[in-house]
Amino acid sequence: MTIAEALRRGAAALRMAGIEDAELEAEVLLRHALGLSRAHFLVRLQDELHPDDERRFRDLLQRRRAHVPTAYLTGHREFYSLDLFVAPGVLIPRPETEHVVEEALRIGHELLARQERVTLVDVGTGCGAIALAVAQHLPALRVLAVDCSPAALAVADLNARRLRLAGRVTFLQGDLLAPVHEPVDIVAANLPYIPSHVIPTLQPEVRDHEPRQALDGGPDGLRVIDRLLGQVPSHLRGGHGTVILEIGFDQAKPLRALVAERLPGADLTFRRDLAGIERVAVIHV
Ligand SMILES: C[S@@+](CC[C@H](N)C(=O)[O-])C[C@H]1O[C@@H](n2cnc3c(N)ncnc32)[C@H](O)[C@@H]1O
Repeated sequence: MTIAEALRRGAAALRMAGIEDAELEAEVLLRHALGLSRAHFLVRLQDELHPDDERRFRDLLQRRRAHVPTAYLTGHREFYSLDLFVAPGVLIPRPETEHVVEEALRIGHELLARQERVTLVDVGTGCGAIALAVAQHLPALRVLAVDCSPAALAVADLNARRLRLAGRVTFLQGDLLAPVHEPVDIVAANLPYIPSHVIPTLQPEVRDHEPRQALDGGPDGLRVIDRLLGQVPSHLRGGHGTVILEIGFDQAKPLRALVAERLPGADLTFRRDLAGIERVAVIHV
């Protein structure tokens, strides 16, 4: 069987299993099985597929048909131009979270123009996505990253070393801001924000394979964020700073009420994602 034929059959198998973008997914998995870049893959389409590669591809297709996310099968996800390692036990970073990085970099630049030391903490760092992207693009910033999950921190630490950013981010294990014992200027967080009752309705890739503690935000989705807002005032330098939060598509209004209660007098604005949804809250305290 040629590589092109294997690709056609793989795409058909994924389509039958109801996987969206079956052609693209089959290509990503076949390239992973062969260890080829896209350019090398395209010039080898008429080559015969080696039986070992065919076995590897078949195994990947079987797991993808069982709705294991492609990023867990390949071990990679691109985020803010960084090639991040991901594995089961850690959330796969999403494109909308790049808006959190953009806001953190914008505010980081503004603060660095005014003060010598600026510290950012990424709360719920997962595979390290926000912290590592910020550290890569703004080396003058001090970057801390917290997660309660040892599995997530192990992946984040591996990513830091692979990206040669190991000395640039300090990883801490614990609950929200509890392990942070120095004043911070920027709190950036993509914490769990999906209401518990919505989780059974999510697509199987998310519901059955991504860690529940990365998704479940309690009855209204805002329980973890609410606890973070309660901790913020005592951790900001001189009681002032900026909190940048990713939220769900319908959470702008309830978040406004929480901020009014937890951080009275704070200024809250929202940044929309590419779908026009108020996705990132920027709170100046
Ligand atoms: C939605 S994931 C986001 C991961 C990463 N920031 C990203 O955007 O890809 C939320 C992360 O918060 C962590 N988390 C949940 N509750 C936490 C808590 N109370 N304290 C610290 N981390 C928490 C989870 O382990 C998970 O890694």
